[in-house]
Amino acid sequence: MSIQNSPLLKSILLMVGLMTLSITQTQAGADTFNSVCAECHTGGIKGFISGAPNINNPASWQKFLNRDTVEKMREIVLRGTKDHKPKGGCASCSDQQVIEALDYIIIRVN
Ligand code: HEC
Repeated sequence: MSIQNSPLLKSILLMVGLMTLSITQTQAGADTFNSVCAECHTGGIKGFISGAPNINNPASWQKFLNRDTVEKMREIVLRGTKDHKPKGGCASCSDQQVIEALDYIIIRVN
């Protein structure tokens, strides 16, 4: 059997591919988070006034994580509610960018 056809090699290549993909997505999520969500979600003055949960304080996310599924959070953040601006106020962000930023938050606070 040649090395190119090795199932082991194929699965290693697949794993590396998936890892690279998730790292790229997390980086994109971090970029969107930092430019859009951070002003309220890093515990600054705006976070304090609005009562937004702080990414650096996982405990502050507990009540939201207990109450809402990730799907529900996607809906809240994409469409907005009376407590949340649609896309965190970033009209020019794509749905994909907003979801990546949300995934980044969820990874960080878990
Ligand atoms: C203008 C301030 C502000 C910005 C910008 C902002 N948020 Fe929020 N966010 C809040 C506040 C305030 C809450 C708490 C709302 C509540 O009490 O229900 C919140 C709650 C949340 C929640 C929990 C929602 C729930 O009810 O389960 C998520 C998830 C979230 N924000 C994600 C994001 C993401 C992702 C971004 C960037 C794309 C973002 N937010 C930008 C103020 C903001």
